[in-house]
Amino acid sequence: MMTTTERPRVAILISGRGSNLAAILEAAHAIPATFACVVSSRDDAPGLHHARAHGVPTYIVERARGETRDDYARRLLEPLAETACTHVVLAGFMQILGDPFLAAYPRRIVNIHPSLLPAFPGLDPHRRAIEAGAHVSGCTVHLVEPGEIDGGRVLAQVEVPVFSEDDADTLEARVLRAEHELYPTTLATFFEGFAQEERGSSA
Ligand code: GAR
Repeated sequence: MMTTTERPRVAILISGRGSNLAAILEAAHAIPATFACVVSSRDDAPGLHHARAHGVPTYIVERARGETRDDYARRLLEPLAETACTHVVLAGFMQILGDPFLAAYPRRIVNIHPSLLPAFPGLDPHRRAIEAGAHVSGCTVHLVEPGEIDGGRVLAQVEVPVFSEDDADTLEARVLRAEHELYPTTLATFFEGFAQEERGSSA
């Protein structure tokens, strides 16, 4: 059980480039939490070097061929237990989390998705936004809840314009810049709110 004197201990889960991970770690001084580990679902994820550069312990947990989602979820929990994590931040983690994982961190898993949810959950949101003729897209930071992919309570959103000359790549680049602003500031507010709740419940 976490006491008021302990900061949240956060695992960041990635699968690839890790630019959101980098933005978060660069802003870590302004976020009232300790980034205790980075877990990658791929051993060749370029984002791992950001964790190493910031001195955050890294773990690789790849899903084995034929492994069930729940068995993978249980293995993913192991490094988080080892590093005593109380919260999880998904930063381009491209596996669906199994129920054992969700049950271990209720309302304590945060994700960023590059669209204005509930629009365009899942894969290829930029291409789909352009194909739908959207004039506005953006990104959403939300809690991860059981039974919903890219669903759950929205913590923050920011709009980004879609221009007629955009393709999926140019839109992705513009949204990604917005993500790098939105995610660290939203996490700062989220963890500050969590600390206030903890203080309130112990008063
Ligand atoms: C980001 O655009 C993030 O919003 C998206 O993956 C990208 C990861 O980039 N996440 C999802 O689509 C989740 N459904 P990064 O590895 O450079 O942070």
